Amino acid sequence: MRNFIIVGHRAVTYPPFSLNDLPGTGGRVDILARSINVAFLLSHGMREGVEVTTVLLGPEDPPKNIRFIGTELKYLNPDERSTGALSRNALIKYNTMKTNPEKKQFERSLVQNDILGNELRSSPGVYISNSGFAEILRYYSEHSILVCLIEKGSDLSNLTEQLKNNYKQNLTFILSDDKDFTAEEEDLINKYSKFSLSLGPQTLHSDHCIILIHNILDNLEIKNIKP
Ligand SMILES: C[S@@+](CC[C@H](N)C(=O)[O-])C[C@H]1O[C@@H](n2cnc3c(N)ncnc32)[C@H](O)[C@@H]1O
Repeated sequence: MRNFIIVGHRAVTYPPFSLNDLPGTGGRVDILARSINVAFLLSHGMREGVEVTTVLLGPEDPPKNIRFIGTELKYLNPDERSTGALSRNALIKYNTMKTNPEKKQFERSLVQNDILGNELRSSPGVYISNSGFAEILRYYSEHSILVCLIEKGSDLSNLTEQLKNNYKQNLTFILSDDKDFTAEEEDLINKYSKFSLSLGPQTLHSDHCIILIHNILDNLEIKNIKP
């Protein structure tokens, strides 16, 4: 299982952004949409053993997180706009539920999660709640090894060596958007993760990092070297 957590520092939480201007009105939600697409989509198919959580910290109602679960996910297309629409739809449904709690239609879409509280299933494989970065890190740390992707991290050979002695199937990679992690976020990451990984000397786009991780792990799996 491969999980990715991406922090959207300015990603809008409500009111919803325009699908015609994801970067501007969405607070760089285009970065999150591209990351979701590359995490799941292959040329002719989808990777099911993947979960992506976007942590939205922008105005006006932070935090929110939207989790995309590969085994259940439907309506994911290669274009950024329609992926943006899945997130936008989640924000709209969450807000409608919050402002009209008596609406019965939401009851069957609520899923109780011990750490994340009530998650609303906004469409197949898409869940939204108001948990923040700390809860998301705690949730994934309970059943996976957390690895922070950061320019100043350790090199790959180091990580492969360390994980060999501490093997678990589930890996969760933590990324930021176009901003650095804040000092508070770094403290939280250090609390839950003892691994940091650099993918090389250049600063890369978040979605490109995800492609590299998939490629590295795909090749390790082919060679049957457990990461
Ligand atoms: C566009 S970069 C962030 C911007 C950058 N920190 C800056 O302000 O110049 C997006 C994210 O991808 C990941 N990333 C980018 N380059 C990386 C590298 N060489 N090694 C590991 N992770 C990287 C990090 O999580 C980073 O926060």
